[in-house]
Amino acid sequence: MLSISQYREAFSKYLEAKIKIREPRNLYEPMVYILSQGGKRLRPVLVLLATEIFNTDYRKALDAALAIEIFHNFSLVHDDIMDDAPIRRGKETVHEKWDINTGILSGDAMLINAYQLFENYEGEVFKELARLFTKTAIEVCEGQQYDIDFETREDVSIEEYLKMIEYKTAVLVGASLQMGAIVAGETTECKEAIYQYGRLLGIAFQLQDDYLDAFGDPETFGKQAGGDIIENKKTFLYLKAKESSGKGEAMQLEHLYSIAPGDSSEKIEAVKNIFVASGAAELTRKEIKKYTNEAFQILDKINISEEKKEPLRKFGQLLMEREV
Ligand code: IPE
Ligand code: IPE
Ligand code: MG
Ligand code: MG
Ligand code: MG
Repeated sequence: MLSISQYREAFSKYLEAKIKIREPRNLYEPMVYILSQGGKRLRPVLVLLATEIFNTDYRKALDAALAIEIFHNFSLVHDDIMDDAPIRRGKETVHEKWDINTGILSGDAMLINAYQLFENYEGEVFKELARLFTKTAIEVCEGQQYDIDFETREDVSIEEYLKMIEYKTAVLVGASLQMGAIVAGETTECKEAIYQYGRLLGIAFQLQDDYLDAFGDPETFGKQAGGDIIENKKTFLYLKAKESSGKGEAMQLEHLYSIAPGDSSEKIEAVKNIFVASGAAELTRKEIKKYTNEAFQILDKINISEEKKEPLRKFGQLLMEREV
């Protein structure tokens, strides 16, 4: 087995060789722009890692890994339009650099390209990969719709929030790992267990993303500081703060979140103060740990050697500590 950074390196080389600007340039340039910015490449690394954990050469999984990363980047291009986000990975978002129509169509083409990559598999493996991908992609759309719906709803529950992040983010992490198991021809039991591991890690990952959106360093995080607060996103931080504050502060928070999106550093500061004072910031850290530990418990039960589990555990640990 290789190290996590070696899988990332191998994947990046593969991507660079496959993704080139073609005509019409305005369709493919944004695609190359977003895909060449790097990003953490977590999902493709998980595809490759899972393949090798289940005793199969990672090279067999490179197309599935590429499909997952292209799909992820497609979802970011459209997500940035929906979230009105100006910055991603420290650079202008596609719709800011070009325009919204370019973002829509380049995104569409990326989604189709992702599907196309599964044509490189045959028989049962092709069928299983395509089926998992379709199910996951539609769930991501459902999660994204909930995310948008919640911006203007005042009665979002924590349970609903958790369902929303499971769909918009966690299922893709689960699917990445399961694809590795599919390429490796694993048993149904293993495929299911590794999916659950990824799903739980994915929930922790999105909680962390929400936390960093408010409290991370925009320089390293690469996104607009307080973007979720500007957009009135009903994150765990917000919902817990509302639940844990006194009546006055809870009302103030609701009032701040009734302001239409717009750049407001005063709003961001006021909201962050409530997030901290209410204990919601601390509770979010705890929740991240809780889901990561739940993921580790699933890992304990998977029928692979301790040695093989180690990189997966390390991966989960790194995610929890990340600042980017
Ligand atoms: C961003 O995902 C979108 C979320 C699901 C939070 P990543 O944080 O994995 O983005 P990159 O690819 O590393 O930039
Ligand atoms: C992203 O959620 C989920 C998807 C792109 C499907 P966010 O909106 O929180 O992601 P960032 O923070 O913009 O990366
Ligand atoms: Mg966003
Ligand atoms: Mg979003
Ligand atoms: Mg976010």
